[in-house]
Amino acid sequence: MPDAMDIFSTREAIEFSPGVYWIGAMDPSLRTFDIILKTANGTSYNAYLIRGSEGVAIVDTVKENFSEEFFRRLESVASYDEIKVIVLNHLEPDHSGALPQLMERAPHAQLYISQRATAMLKGLLNRSNDDFEYTTVVTNDLVSLGDRTLRFLHTPFLHWPDTQCTYLEEQQVLFSGDVFGCHFCDGRLFNDKVGDFRFSFDYYYAHIMRPFKQHVLNALDLIEPLALNIIAPTHGPILRDRPARYVKHYRELSTSSLSGEIGDNEKSLMIFYMSSYGNTARMAEAIFAGADEVEGARVSLFDLEGGEVDPFVDLIEGADALVFGSPTINGDAVKPVWDLLSSLVVINLKGKLGAAFGSYGWSGEAIAMIEDRMRGLKMRVPLSGVRVKLIPDDDELSQCRAYGRNIATILVGKRIENHVLDLADLA
Ligand code: FEO
Repeated sequence: MPDAMDIFSTREAIEFSPGVYWIGAMDPSLRTFDIILKTANGTSYNAYLIRGSEGVAIVDTVKENFSEEFFRRLESVASYDEIKVIVLNHLEPDHSGALPQLMERAPHAQLYISQRATAMLKGLLNRSNDDFEYTTVVTNDLVSLGDRTLRFLHTPFLHWPDTQCTYLEEQQVLFSGDVFGCHFCDGRLFNDKVGDFRFSFDYYYAHIMRPFKQHVLNALDLIEPLALNIIAPTHGPILRDRPARYVKHYRELSTSSLSGEIGDNEKSLMIFYMSSYGNTARMAEAIFAGADEVEGARVSLFDLEGGEVDPFVDLIEGADALVFGSPTINGDAVKPVWDLLSSLVVINLKGKLGAAFGSYGWSGEAIAMIEDRMRGLKMRVPLSGVRVKLIPDDDELSQCRAYGRNIATILVGKRIENHVLDLADLA
């Protein structure tokens, strides 16, 4: 059996626990994954083979154009007739690419997928649900390989609705799918051998898992009680050295830092603005002052010119209400505002309160555009935004102050005085 250090020079399987093998593929040339993720040294598509006394199981496959490498490694330790079980923890093409061929080559295999994966079989593999024999499984369903037992854990949205994890009970190996993975290509394969992958691990979490933090926490509730010798994800190093550290780290990443800083009886309202001649800035200050009058609202004010997108995204994740201010220039909101708004896909904004304001010269489209974007992000936009032509006078600044007060009042769940509901409020 080759040493893991030889992985680029061998096409054989790598055994890392008795009867448990890595049969994946390395993709060192990849520089971008799923359009949004940078992959500075590529990635790996990890697939696994488990040999039991009554048959062989395959857990996940590889991207289609790496099939030959996957099949060569598989054939180095098992014949297709021996395969009784195929588990697809996640149907994204980087893991299901070799599945159709594997199903054809392994005539005695039964496919196990989550219930939600069934809806994806046709769309992803161009197969009707009748083309494959499959069994759907839920948390704590078991499949026996004789002296080996696989247990399934339903972990939806990590990273798609179909995702699940598979636990090899006798050897305490968790085949975790995308969870605990990272795009880090290193032939030394194991976390105690590869280079420094800490950045890749956190970067991957931030882009793949972060939008689904509540689902991560639900999955951790299933995973944390397990005895864990090894975590075997579908990308990056196999975590055999102190795997519980990574579970703990996921818990920390999924839990707000400085939790308790904003009290249980307080709501966080953040105002972000960009101003060219100081007019939108004066509006922002007035809205800030109005919002700050409301008991129970913790209000923050940020000039986008003085910050960078990533820290602002972190801030926004913890906010309960977001108010964006932009002047209208050439019929549009300004670029720093769009840069921030377009970076918010990595966090869950559903249900947060949204509002917009800004000064304009002759048209003032920016406010409605920002509101549309916020609605597209599933935020609630209960009040129409405030627009001021050029320099706000005292009356207009009073309106801004009232607007801030009203947004904060809605945020803390109180009634706005003298408020006449119009259709925009129902958006
Ligand atoms: Fe590695 Fe979500 O696929």
